[in-house]
Amino acid sequence: MRALPSIIQGGMGVGVSDWRLARAVSARGQLGVVSGTALDVLLARRLQMGDPGGHVRRALDRFPVRAVAERILNRFYVPGGKAADRPFAPLPLADVDGPRELLELRVAGNFVEVSLAREGHDRPVGINYLEKVQLPHLASIYGAMLAGVGFVLMGAGIPSRIPGVLDGLVYHAPVTYPLSIARGGEGADTLLAFDPREIIDADLPPLTRPSFLAIVSSHVLAAALLKRSNGVVDGFVVEGPTAGGHNAPPRGKLQLNEAGEPIYGERDGVDLEAMRALGRPFWLAGGYGSAAGLRQALACGAAGVQVGTAFALCEESGVRADYKESLLAQVRAGTARVFTDPLASPTSFPFKVAQVDGTLSDPAVYEARTRVCDLGYLRDAYRKEDGTIGFRCSAEPVTVYVSKGGRIEDTVGRKCICNALVATVGLGQVRGHTTEPAIITAGDDLASVTQFMPEGATRYTAADVIASLLAPATEEVQARHPSSGHPSLKDSTEGHVFAGLS
Ligand SMILES: Cc1cc2nc3c(=O)[nH]c(=O)nc-3n(C[C@H](O)[C@H](O)[C@H](O)COP(=O)(O)O)c2cc1C
Repeated sequence: MRALPSIIQGGMGVGVSDWRLARAVSARGQLGVVSGTALDVLLARRLQMGDPGGHVRRALDRFPVRAVAERILNRFYVPGGKAADRPFAPLPLADVDGPRELLELRVAGNFVEVSLAREGHDRPVGINYLEKVQLPHLASIYGAMLAGVGFVLMGAGIPSRIPGVLDGLVYHAPVTYPLSIARGGEGADTLLAFDPREIIDADLPPLTRPSFLAIVSSHVLAAALLKRSNGVVDGFVVEGPTAGGHNAPPRGKLQLNEAGEPIYGERDGVDLEAMRALGRPFWLAGGYGSAAGLRQALACGAAGVQVGTAFALCEESGVRADYKESLLAQVRAGTARVFTDPLASPTSFPFKVAQVDGTLSDPAVYEARTRVCDLGYLRDAYRKEDGTIGFRCSAEPVTVYVSKGGRIEDTVGRKCICNALVATVGLGQVRGHTTEPAIITAGDDLASVTQFMPEGATRYTAADVIASLLAPATEEVQARHPSSGHPSLKDSTEGHVFAGLS
C-alpha cells in the first residue's frame, strides 16, 4: 500500500465531502476523500446550475470518451443556470442493468469528482461508497479509477466482493457484483454486471489498483473480511457509534434511551488488541477529531484517525453555506443538538441528525413533505410475484411500499434521505412551489468544532482542522518553541504525516 496518512478526511455523502474539500485535505498531505454517493445526480444537477467556474466542464474535457462527455453536456448543461423555480431534469431510476444514461453519468460523475480533487497536487485522493447502495458500484468505481483514485473506502455493509472488482477493473475487464435481495430471492439475475467496453471504445493501458479500506464497526467483521474477501483488503477504518452519518446498530436487541436513541454497550466496543493482531493498518473514527484523539489513536497502534464532523462544517465542505452558518452559530451558542434517529434512514441503520430549523429534523417539515421516491439509492431489491426483480423503499409513498409487499410498520418515521441529502448541498429538487427539505447529519462531537475556529473568527477551513489535529501536545510545543508556544503548521506536521504503518 502507498504511504499512509495519519488523518483521513472521512467520505461524507451526498456531496458534503466534494472535490473542493478532498483537494484541500490531500494538498496538505493528509487523505482527502470524496463521497462517491449519487455522483450521477450531482453531475447532472451541477451542469443544470450552470457549472459556475467551469470546473465540471474542465474535468469532462479530460474524460477519455468524447462522445460520452458531449452527450452529458448536451443533455444537462444550462448556460447561466436554470431558473431557481424550475425543477431539475428527472433521471431514470436505476435498474439491475442500467439504463445506459445512468451508466454514463456514473462513470463520468465519479471521474469528474476524483479528477477535480486531484488538481494542483500530487497526493492521493480517496473515494467513499456505501456498500448498501449497490446498483451504481461497478460503473462508479470504474469512473473513479479512470481518474486515478488512490484509495477506495467502503462501509455500511460487508464489502467482501469489492477487492476482486478493483483487480478486474485495473485491466478494464468485465466485473460482477452480487445484488443483495430479500431472503430467498437470489437467482442468476441478481448478479450485477459491468463491462468497461460498454463505455470505453479505445484500448487503454492498465489502471493503478487503488488501496482498499473497509469501514467496520468491529474487529470480528474486520477479521471476517480478511478471510472471506476475493482480493486484498489493505486496511480498515474502525468506526464507533458517535460518528456522523449512519451508525452500525447496537449488537443484540435494540434498546432506546429516554430520548429515543439506541443504547450502545460494552459489546459494541472494538478490541484494539485484536485489530492490531490482524496486521493491517487501521484508523479510528467517531469522536477522534482533536489532537488528543489523534495521539490516543496512534498510541493504540492505529495508523491515525478518520474525521468527519470537523470537516463537514469547514469552509470547503459542500454543505449549503446558510446551513453551515446556522449550525456553527448553534455550536457557538452551546445549543447544537444531534439526535441518533433509529427510524430516519430507510436502511434501518441509526442515522445521526443535527437539529436545524427548516430541515427534516423539524417534525412539521417532515409531516408537510409529500412522499416521493425518485432518486432511489436506498431501495431494497425483492423478488416480485411475476418472478422479476423489484425495488422498494420504506420512505416511498406508504401505499406503494405496501403494495410491493413492504410492511406498513416499517414506513413509520422513515425519511427520504436521498432527496434530503442532495438538498443539503444546495441541489434539492423543486416541486411546484417548494424545494425538497434538507437533512444534516453530524457526529455526537459536533459541539467541539469551536476548537478549529481561529481566535475571533466564526468559521474555519480544512487547513485549520488539520493544523489543530497535528498540533503537538503542550509539553512538546514548549520543548520545541520555548519562546512562542504556538506551533506552526510546518512544525506540527513533522513526524505525523505519512508516519503510519506499512
Ligand atoms: C455529514 C456527514 C456525512 C457522512 N457521510 C458518510 C458517508 O456517506 N459514508 C460513510 O462511510 N461515512 C459517512 N460519514 C462518516 C464519516 O466518514 C466519518 O467516518 C465520521 O464522521 C467520523 O466520526 P466524527 O464525525 O466523529 O469525526 C459521514 C459523516 C458526516 C459528519
